[in-house]
Amino acid sequence: MINRTRIRDALKATEPMESVTVMGWVRTRRDAKDFSFVDLNDGSCLSGLQVILPGDLPDYDRWIGEITTGASLQVQGHLVASQGKGQRWELQASAVQLMGRSDASYPLQKKRHSPEFMREMAHLRPRSNLFGSVFRVRSRLAQAVHRFFSERDFFYIHTPIITASDCEGAGELFRVTTLDPSRGGDPTKDFFGKPSYLTVSGQLAAETFACALSNVYTFGPTFRAENSNTSRHASEFWMIEPEMAFCDLGGDMDLAEAFVKYLIQDTLDQSAEEMAFFDAFVDKGLLERLRWILERPFERVAYTQAVDILLQSGQRFEYPVQHGLNLQSEHERFLTESHFKGPITVYDYPKAIKPFYMRANDDGQTVAAMDVLVPGIGEIVGGSQREERLEVLESQLRAHDLSLEDYSWYLDLRRYGSVPHSGFGMGFERMLMFLTGVTNIRDVIPFARTPGHASF
Ligand code: 4AD
Ligand code: MG
Repeated sequence: MINRTRIRDALKATEPMESVTVMGWVRTRRDAKDFSFVDLNDGSCLSGLQVILPGDLPDYDRWIGEITTGASLQVQGHLVASQGKGQRWELQASAVQLMGRSDASYPLQKKRHSPEFMREMAHLRPRSNLFGSVFRVRSRLAQAVHRFFSERDFFYIHTPIITASDCEGAGELFRVTTLDPSRGGDPTKDFFGKPSYLTVSGQLAAETFACALSNVYTFGPTFRAENSNTSRHASEFWMIEPEMAFCDLGGDMDLAEAFVKYLIQDTLDQSAEEMAFFDAFVDKGLLERLRWILERPFERVAYTQAVDILLQSGQRFEYPVQHGLNLQSEHERFLTESHFKGPITVYDYPKAIKPFYMRANDDGQTVAAMDVLVPGIGEIVGGSQREERLEVLESQLRAHDLSLEDYSWYLDLRRYGSVPHSGFGMGFERMLMFLTGVTNIRDVIPFARTPGHASF
């Protein structure tokens, strides 16, 4: 066991400390007449520790030149109040050990690099201020998700990643197969004896558990082979899907809105240093916007009302606005950014544009669906009340050309003690983009998978 003090803890010290050992990577070195300054970072927080390497350390002249950006160091010394400005503490080194050299080809230099450039080196970018911050916040956000549900007594269900059903019915499935494609593809001879895919959503499996344990959620990776090369779509992303028995659409919207607010509050509380950084360097006004959102209820707008607003806006859109058509991202953004100037929950969408499982409303035209839209992104949550009436669900499956046999297990939930139930899916990365102000989903995923890209 190597004993070390995390830089985060050293920086939070309340009094000077004798004999501290820290380890980390050199961000910069600056030489003065009789000593050198090193900015050492171990990723435990955004800030680095200022280390003073006195020129009278043994063999100083021999090794100082090797302490370059990117190199890893172990430093022992005394933590003392810093005389310089910009930091409270600094480490006066008494012994230094170069753990790993870094040569001049190290690509991360002090200057700011573009996100595109950084994507090409996704293996090194967590060492930068921006990406280190994004991934610390990502980790805390995942913990906050579990805390939110745990505080409300929801059970965490591990729904399968390999599945035979296309929950969303959009045909955006990645096939899972061990068949040799050159030999033709008889699915009955395949590994699972039938066509199998990577899941697009854990919802159907979560529903079965909600119809037993009442309140459950799943949180895991989902996969979509949609060929949309946008800044908000990834082929592999994480989704949080709660499912509640004895709950209608109103309760579903309540939970979704409370969840969004909880995650905002938690991130402001837990990641204050990173959030101040995003506010200064990524999205000016981010903090003010998030705090503003926390203070008021989300507007709720019926789909028809939303379409009327768009039609009357006088705004020119690339995609047509018409009752019955899906809202495009430009429409969603107009509603939330320009019209309502805050998050909104749109509900009761046309039946024809939604999946088979959503509950039909009495008007015969719409389903009890809802989406939460936020400024800068558009949709971050999509959910619905589920169709709990057996005959209606069967006719919906037929209308979507789906086999009743394949869904017999799902229909069983309606055969045996059916109850009203509802749930939603939140895109974890979309939420992270919303919280950090980062505008491209590729920059909030450790190693992003998008059409044409599966490097690292
Ligand atoms: O609206 P979606 O497709 O809903 C479902 O999958 C439902 N089965 C959820 C449920 O009711 N349990 O997806 C839910 C959310 C979207 O609102 C969006 O935030 C995110 O998942 N999402 C994506 N995020 C990143 N990349 C993609 N390609 C995404 N597709 C959806
Ligand atoms: Mg959706």
